[in-house]
Amino acid sequence: MTGRRHAVAVIGGDGIGPEVVAEALKVVEAAGVALDTTTYELGAAHYLRTGEVLSDEVLEELRGFDAILLGAVGPPVGDTSVPPGLLERGLLLKLRFELDLYINLRPFAGAPGAIAEGAEFVVVRENTEGAYAGEGGFLRRGTQHEIATQGSVNTRMGVERCVRFAFELAERRPAHRLTLVHKTNVLTFAGDLWRRTVEEVAADHSGVAHDYQHVDAACIYLVERPRSYDVIVTDNLFGDILTDLAGAVCGGHGLSPSANLNPARTGPSLFEPVHGAAHDIAGQGVANPVAAIRSASLMLDFLGETDAAARIDKAVADLVGSGQLSRPPTGADRWSTSAIGEAIAERL
Ligand code: IPM
Ligand code: MN
Repeated sequence: MTGRRHAVAVIGGDGIGPEVVAEALKVVEAAGVALDTTTYELGAAHYLRTGEVLSDEVLEELRGFDAILLGAVGPPVGDTSVPPGLLERGLLLKLRFELDLYINLRPFAGAPGAIAEGAEFVVVRENTEGAYAGEGGFLRRGTQHEIATQGSVNTRMGVERCVRFAFELAERRPAHRLTLVHKTNVLTFAGDLWRRTVEEVAADHSGVAHDYQHVDAACIYLVERPRSYDVIVTDNLFGDILTDLAGAVCGGHGLSPSANLNPARTGPSLFEPVHGAAHDIAGQGVANPVAAIRSASLMLDFLGETDAAARIDKAVADLVGSGQLSRPPTGADRWSTSAIGEAIAERL
């Protein structure tokens, strides 16, 4: 433990978000790390109450924290009271862009019984560019001659800092392997920039073996031989899709964490489960908090609490790896959210 206190903004959000974040905070406390938390009410419910998605004042306040821990934001599926894309663009993506969270780090560990059982790999997803940049627009909207364009923005700087991060990560991992995933045969301009950048950066990292896969092929390999991966580096949209697939083959999204990092540390980084608000199971105490707990451990690691993070990871790996989560505790028909949090906290 560093003995430092860390100022963390907590955004529980909607649906199961607050429930899983509460367990994550419980586990951090059990690991002996002191956080000064400030809760922010943001998300679909907040928007419906106030008409506000993320005000400039709140954004400025958030810049002052050491980290942000987020549960999930979004309205129930099929709910039309929040315009589509409003929260995504106005809150989550805005935070990623404004705070320059240019790496979306998504580690995966295949759980017992999962297709990818025993797999251990990390996806480094570029997080501020590509199709998410918002480039494009309409011409003649609503007419017979309507045109919609949606570009993919790939800057040399943005691609290179992402690729460098991925190589540096591969260098620190035992397997020293990196796979670029793209679609260079069709996206010839963006693909060319990504490929050239990987080749150039590879020259500075001779200890890392690298290869390339088209994204469609990678979807097959993730299912057929998930244990062949170490570090995958890819663009924003491919990374979004691939990490949903990766979560599914590794045992489900209740287990998948993510770190939206500003490695330059010009502001706070944001940590959140890959999963959404899952309103269908909210309030029942049955959501799996493991993704949120692992996100909190990514946060601690990034804050320099590497020992506490490693202990949490080990406790999670022990519980998940033992296969116990598929066997409910005696007297219950399934694990509750808090029972999982407690079982992990107890192991610390
Ligand atoms: C994710 C989510 C977001 C994304 C949405 C909610 C904007 O799916 O974090 O993967 O597409 O990045
Ligand atoms: Mn996604």
